[in-house]
Amino acid sequence: MERLIAQAAEIICNAKLTMALTGAGISVESGIPDFRSAGGLWSKYNPDEYATISAFRQDPEKVWKMLRDMEELIINARPNRAHIGMGELEKMGFLHYIITQNVDNLHQAGGAKNVIEYHGNSSTLSCLWCEKGYTVEEKKGVYPPRCECGKILKPGVVMFGEAIPPGVLNRSFQIAASAKALMIVATSAVVSPANTIPGIAKQNGAKIIEINKEKTHLTESLTDVFIQGEAGEIIAGLVVAIKERAGLGI
Ligand code: APR
Repeated sequence: MERLIAQAAEIICNAKLTMALTGAGISVESGIPDFRSAGGLWSKYNPDEYATISAFRQDPEKVWKMLRDMEELIINARPNRAHIGMGELEKMGFLHYIITQNVDNLHQAGGAKNVIEYHGNSSTLSCLWCEKGYTVEEKKGVYPPRCECGKILKPGVVMFGEAIPPGVLNRSFQIAASAKALMIVATSAVVSPANTIPGIAKQNGAKIIEINKEKTHLTESLTDVFIQGEAGEIIAGLVVAIKERAGLGI
C-alpha cells in the first residue's frame, strides 16, 4: 500500500487541479452504514419503496421510517480521518473540489469548504405543497415533521426520480473537464449522473486514483492507481505522504 500511496501523492502534488468524488463508504467509519455493502441501508429498506420521490408522494409517513433511521445516524456522526484528511489536503492547496453523493455534511464538518453536494443535504426540510422551508433543528424529534400547512415535509435530499440541481450538475462537469487528478473515494459508482464524472475527467486527461475497500466497475476500466482498504487509513497516509513530498513539516 505504501508504494500506491506514494504514487497517488506524486499525482496529486503534480496536478494543477485535483478533485474528489466521494460516496457513502467514506462515512462508514463515522457510524453511518453505506447503501450497498452487506448490512447497508438498502439491505434493510428497499430503495424502490423508500428512496423514490413517487414513494414519498404516495406514502410520506412510510418513507419517514427510513429517513428517521438515517437522520438519527447522521445527527450522532462525527467526521472521521478521511473527512478530516481531505479537509487538510484542501487547506494545503492539494485538493480543490469535493463532489459528494453524501448528505451527512461530514466533509464540511471535517474542514472542507469547496464541497458540491450532488444529492443535497439532510439538514433542511421543505414542503412540496406550499414550498415553505425549515431546518431539521426546527422540527427536531418530530416524526414525521409537518409544515404549518399540515403537510408532511420532505428532507433536502435528492430522491431517486428527482433531478440533480442544474447548477450542481453543470459545475461538476466543468470541474471534471479541467481536473488533472480525480480521487474516487468509497463509492460503488453505480448511480447516475454522479458516476459519469470519472469518465469525463479521464477523457480530459485526469489521472484517476480510486480508494475503496473493494474493486468497482471503474477499477479495471478507468482507474490508474487503485488503493484497496479503509478510506480513513488510506487518506491519513496520503496526507502524510503529500506533506513529506511537499517538504511540509509533519
Ligand atoms: N473504506 C473504503 N471504502 C468503503 C468503506 C470504507 N470504510 N466502506 C464501504 N466502502 C465502499 C464500498 O465497497 C462501496 O464500493 O464504499 C462504496 C459504497 O457504495 P454504496 O453503498 O453504493 O454508496 P454510494 O456509492 O455512495 O451510493 C451512491 O446511491 O442510494 C444512492 O443516493 C444514494 O448517494 C447514494 C448513491
